[in-house]
Amino acid sequence: MDRLHVRGGRSLEGTVHNAGAKNACLSILSASLLTKKTLTLSNLPALSDVDTMLEILQRLGTVVERETQDGVVRCRTSEIAEPTAPWDLVRKMRASFEVLGPLLGRCGRARVSYPGGCLIGVRPVDTHLRGLEALGARVRTEGGNVLAEAPSGGLRGGDVYLGTPAGSSVGATRNVLMAAVLARGTSVLSSAACEPEVVDLAHCLQAMGADIEGAGSPTITVRGVDGLDGAEHAIIPDRIEAGTFLVAGALTGGRVRVEGVRPDHHSALLDAFVRAGVPIEKGGDWIETQTRDPRLDPLRPTDITTQPYPGFPTDLQAQWMALMLAVPGVSIITETIFEDRYMHLPELARLGASVRRHANSAIVCGGKRLSGANLMASDLRASAALVLAGLIAEGKTTIHRVYHIDRGYERIEARLGALGATIRREQQ
Ligand code: EPZ
Repeated sequence: MDRLHVRGGRSLEGTVHNAGAKNACLSILSASLLTKKTLTLSNLPALSDVDTMLEILQRLGTVVERETQDGVVRCRTSEIAEPTAPWDLVRKMRASFEVLGPLLGRCGRARVSYPGGCLIGVRPVDTHLRGLEALGARVRTEGGNVLAEAPSGGLRGGDVYLGTPAGSSVGATRNVLMAAVLARGTSVLSSAACEPEVVDLAHCLQAMGADIEGAGSPTITVRGVDGLDGAEHAIIPDRIEAGTFLVAGALTGGRVRVEGVRPDHHSALLDAFVRAGVPIEKGGDWIETQTRDPRLDPLRPTDITTQPYPGFPTDLQAQWMALMLAVPGVSIITETIFEDRYMHLPELARLGASVRRHANSAIVCGGKRLSGANLMASDLRASAALVLAGLIAEGKTTIHRVYHIDRGYERIEARLGALGATIRREQQ
């Protein structure tokens, strides 16, 4: 397993291009199962999660052509011999559960393994399953798999409620949306997730001929169509990746410009930057942190609470904590989406960070001296936070189990290195 070695103390400077959004493209790849025609996607990020999804599609019968340049991939699924996604693939990545809706919509039946457990909480799939049932599917569990079957005549439109104790489910909204586009009649999805990644999926489905209204709002109306066509679609930029690079700039007091972003996707992060005193400039498709001397011009401790979009994203919670470690004073970070998304706390403590957990909040006493250590990456975003903390720790920080980071960040060491970070990968 590869490791990353980071030496702290360098202020970052330069420009980085924002890659395509992992969490948009994974479900959009699943959507290619809804048509016999070719779906051509561009701006696909080069990530291990994307490789896993393409492997699942190929097992289902998709012919995949991938170009190395511009992240272009063409998916064509003329036939699906067996609508089954087995455990050995689905366990690797929860997003692969989102093949369920398209398989059921197209084939009238599907067998998909329950997704693997996850280090950020229990992550049930009850909302996905109730949503498919509301479209007429019969759903049961057997041998660790979800078996879903449409009634004779196929799925029918229905009223679907997608709320969860934490708000709405992003994955369930996408799974049910993909099933509903080929159902007979009209479906009304209420308490739908409003995340940009849901909207991007809806735009791609519309380009394929689906009749969808209201994506990006809590109520989405879908009028089922008889079939979908091929289409071309460019994946939106990854707002979490962009946010991580901007936090890296803010943390080191450097000028980091992220290009190819959608500034309108970042309102909660930009507001938090303003409250913290991070100097920011932005334009039509870029955001830039401005140079600041952290000793002369320290930031203000700033609380955040994670919320569904457009609130502060849970996927940037750990990175925000890394930023607050550098800020003298107390800040409170509250996680409301996942019950156990604090795997980075004990690792940050190894650097000398002072963070205490109280219920679903973390109390950060920032401004303490951090010194490099060996750290263990756990989940994707927690691992990104460890790299960020390494940028401000004295001496060398080694992050083990880097494959977690490779799931969601393209060549993070090369891109941070190009901004002036002292970081290298040791391959094992
Ligand atoms: C998506 O996960 C993202 N993953 C996550 O990104 C992100 O953290 C999350 O949305 C929230 O924004 C992808 O898009 C591939 P949810 P998802 O269903 O869809 C509860 C990253 O780091 N819930 O919106 O799995 C659930 O337990 C990842 O890139 C139910 O109760 O998240 C949680 O508390 C990690 N029942 C809340 O809803 C269900 O059936 C939100 O989960 C489904 C979810």
